Amino acid sequence: MSRFVLKDTYFKKAKQDGYRARSAYKLKEIQTKFHLVKKGDRVLDLGCAPGSFLQVLSEIVGSEGSVVGIDILPTRPLPSKNVVALTRNILDPGLEELLTSHAPHGFDVVTCDIAPNLSGIKEVDDKNVRDIYDAVRQVVAASLRREGGLVLKSFFSENLKGIQNDLKRLFKTVSIFKPAASRSVSSEIYFVCLGKK
Ligand SMILES: C[S@@+](CC[C@H](N)C(=O)[O-])C[C@H]1O[C@@H](n2cnc3c(N)ncnc32)[C@H](O)[C@@H]1O
Repeated sequence: MSRFVLKDTYFKKAKQDGYRARSAYKLKEIQTKFHLVKKGDRVLDLGCAPGSFLQVLSEIVGSEGSVVGIDILPTRPLPSKNVVALTRNILDPGLEELLTSHAPHGFDVVTCDIAPNLSGIKEVDDKNVRDIYDAVRQVVAASLRREGGLVLKSFFSENLKGIQNDLKRLFKTVSIFKPAASRSVSSEIYFVCLGKK
């Protein structure tokens, strides 16, 4: 199937199924393969706008679970009672305290689909990507419970091996997964990390 047909297929499907973005199907594929999120879980979603991961996560965790989303842009409110979306830059100080107030015992799973805004200036963009990774790592260290899981979007252009090795220090297993719903021309991949040490 050509990438245009593929794009059209997921775009149309998202519209039909009521998801805010095609990204919903990337998370669904990850969930089907890795069974990361469970009913009743508390999940943190970094880079949540417009909200399709939140929609999928809300369905999985159900009424006994909860989902907290964070994005630098406002997320249009979702009707689900188990979801709250906060407008925050993950690079800003004070995030840890805010997250603790939402999940005092830590989150069971963190998902991060952040796509940093790129300037086209390599040094600036590399620094931005590194800063975001460091912020995510800090959130994971402070707010993800022991044995918890992480889904982290990354790009081939980044220091993939370095990130993978770093994640292996934090988690028992670290896999790299490219969902079919991800455009083949995109260099994005997802790290799926299980069992926080
Ligand atoms: C690909 S979109 C996420 C799509 C989302 N997973 C969904 O399913 O609807 C990437 C998001 O990362 C957010 N983002 C970029 N830099 C950020 C930062 N420093 N802090 C928080 N969010 C950020 C962008 O605003 C954007 O909404």
